[in-house]
Amino acid sequence: MIARGKFVVIGLLLLAALCGGPTRPQQPATVDLGLALTPPMGWDSYNAYGRRATATDLEAQAAALVASGMKAAGYSYVNLDGGWTLRRRDAHGRLQVNRQKFPHGIAPVVDYVHSLGLKFGIYASLGKTNCAGSGAGSWGHYRQDVRTFARWHVDFVKVDWCAVPRKRFPGLTGAQVAQRVFEQFGRALEAAGRPMAYSLSTNHPGLVAWAWASTVGNMWRTNGDIHATYARMRANFIANAGRYAIAGPGRWNDPDMLEVGNGRLTPTESRTNFSLWAEMAAPLIAGNDLTRMSSTTRRILTNRAVIAVNQDRLGQQGRVVARRGGHWILTKPLASGARAIVLFNDTAKPAVISTSARTVGLPSARRYGVDDLWTHLVTSTAGRIVARVAPHAVAMLKLSPMPDAPGSARPSGRQRPPSDLGLAPASR
Ligand code: GAL
Repeated sequence: MIARGKFVVIGLLLLAALCGGPTRPQQPATVDLGLALTPPMGWDSYNAYGRRATATDLEAQAAALVASGMKAAGYSYVNLDGGWTLRRRDAHGRLQVNRQKFPHGIAPVVDYVHSLGLKFGIYASLGKTNCAGSGAGSWGHYRQDVRTFARWHVDFVKVDWCAVPRKRFPGLTGAQVAQRVFEQFGRALEAAGRPMAYSLSTNHPGLVAWAWASTVGNMWRTNGDIHATYARMRANFIANAGRYAIAGPGRWNDPDMLEVGNGRLTPTESRTNFSLWAEMAAPLIAGNDLTRMSSTTRRILTNRAVIAVNQDRLGQQGRVVARRGGHWILTKPLASGARAIVLFNDTAKPAVISTSARTVGLPSARRYGVDDLWTHLVTSTAGRIVARVAPHAVAMLKLSPMPDAPGSARPSGRQRPPSDLGLAPASR
C-alpha cells in the first residue's frame, strides 16, 4: 500500500509540474493517495441521524443510494458515523458494538453494502471516547481497532479528534498533538493490510490541519461541524475556500458533509451548497435521508455536469478570484483546459454579477463556449460573462475556449472589447 501511495505521489508531483498547478508539499506521504484520486463521494449517517443510526437504517440508505441513481452518478461510500460503540471494551480490549443498533454486528452490514457494489466507511475517535463521551475511543488501541476494521472489510475510516489526553504531550500545541496522533493512527492503517481511505475529522480550525494533513490523510476538515442552515454552510465554505493550494489528487480539504435537502436550507441554498462544494473539489458526502428525499433534492445530488466538475481528474480546488459586496466569483481549472466558474450571490437581494474570461484565468480566444451547469443552456461569449443571480443562489458555468474557424485570421493587436454580454441566465 505504501509503495503504491509513494509511486502515485511522484506521478502527481510530475503532473502538477507539467500542468503548472499549485506547488504540492515535498514531504514523502505515508497516506495512500491512490485511494482518493478524485474527491470521495458517498453518504454519511451523522447529518440525518446524529448518533442514532442502526443496521436497518444503514441498509435502507445503501439501497436508496442505488435506487435513486446516486450510485450511477458516482456516489460509492456508505459511512457509519459515531454512536455504534459501547463505552467499555470487552475483556480482550476489543471495541464492543452496540447490539441494540447492530444486533448481528457490523460485518453483515458491510457485506450487504458491498453486495450492492458500494463501499463501507466507519467512524473512530483518537481519544478515550467519542466527542459525546458515549462510546469508546481508540486511544491505546489504534492497531487493534484498525485490524478489526480490516477484518470487517471496511474501506474508509473517519477519525475524530475527541478526548485526546493532551497532558501526555507537555509543551506541544494542540495542532502539534493532533499531527502526532493522526500520524500514529495513519501508521496503524498502513500496517492493517487493507487499503482504507483516511478521513481526518480535524473539526477545529485551531488544529490548522491544512498546514500538515496533506501527507497524513486523504481528506481533513477545515472547520467545525456544518448544520442545515445557510449561515453555517456559508461559514464552512469561507473557511475552506482559502485553502485551495494544498488540495490535489489523493488529498482534499473537507468543509464537512453536505446539507443538501436538510433542515432550513431552501432548494436554492441546497444548490448553492452542492455547487460550492463541487467547485472546491470537496468530498461530496450527502447527509440527508435518501429514503425520503424530494425529487428536487435528488436532482441536485445527481447533477452530473456539476459532479463532473468536482471529479475532474486535474484535481484542483476552485479558488476565489473576486469578492465584492457579497458577490463572489470562483474559478476551477479543468483537465480539458476549460474553467468551471461559480458566481455566488451571498446577499439578500437579487444581483447581476459579471466577470470576464481573462479574470477567471482563461487564455485569449475569439469566443468561448458557455455551458450553464444548472439550466443546461449552451451559449457563447466573446469574453464577458454576466448572470442574474437570486439571493443566496449561484450561477455555475463551464467556459471553454472555442477553436478558431478554419481560415479565420487571429487579431494581431489588442482584441476588440467584446460587444455581447455572453449570457444572463435567470438563476433561481
Ligand atoms: C463530531 C464530528 C462530526 C461527527 C460527530 C459524531 O466530533 O465533527 O462530524 O462525526 O462527532 O459524534
